[in-house]
Amino acid sequence: MSKRKLAAGNWKMNGLAAALSEIDALSQSLQNADREVVLCPPATLVQAMAAKTAGSPIEVGGQDCHAAASGAHTGDISAEMLADAGARYVIVGHSERRADHGETDDEVRAKTEAAWRAGLVAIVCIGETEAQYRAKETLQVIDTQLAGSLPDSVTGANTVIAYEPVWAIGTGLVPEMDEIGEVHGAIRQRLSDRFGADTAAAVRILYGGSVKPGNATEIFAVPDVDGALVGGASLKASDFGPIANALAGH
Ligand code: 13P
Repeated sequence: MSKRKLAAGNWKMNGLAAALSEIDALSQSLQNADREVVLCPPATLVQAMAAKTAGSPIEVGGQDCHAAASGAHTGDISAEMLADAGARYVIVGHSERRADHGETDDEVRAKTEAAWRAGLVAIVCIGETEAQYRAKETLQVIDTQLAGSLPDSVTGANTVIAYEPVWAIGTGLVPEMDEIGEVHGAIRQRLSDRFGADTAAAVRILYGGSVKPGNATEIFAVPDVDGALVGGASLKASDFGPIANALAGH
């Protein structure tokens, strides 16, 4: 069975209740196609967005979860809570959480296991900083993050990898297409080495970092790119719709 391509939007810390009106516009703009569309709003909007997208092709995800199911962790949200609110996905290990909250690969692995425990699909983020890119350490960084952030029971159904070069996030900068292809190919190979070729083939590997309607088609044509994790351009249906539709042809 070939895997379904995935367009995932990460709203980050953006979106008040009024932003849910984008859902209507997005639903209208999405062409019928065999691909998945996921939006990850702030936690405050997960339940309302899940209610609003029920019966539509749009699925909902969280942006982070705690490793524990419940407990004395003020301000944190568990994977079970996200699932209870209607989420089907959760982003873990985003570079902004690794940077702002000092999240380590060990913590990301625990969060991935928490996502699985709650029945969520984990979108595990990896990617090098600008300094690491300049030092040509990208593949080394990717190796370390994959080894540390992924638990042992990865399947195509429970895990998505998002390769997001930190220097490409929110900057308008995008690697050369052959660089994206090289990194995605390396990720696929590492998955194959550890989990076997069948699993590696089934796991979706998304590219993230300044994906826009104007570059989505080119990025989706790169081998081993199975979709995108989109930040700024996921906030507006007029941008995210065309990106998700660009995936339909691939
Ligand atoms: P931008 O699309 O705004 O560059 O953000 C990418 C990202 O971090 C998605 O998680």
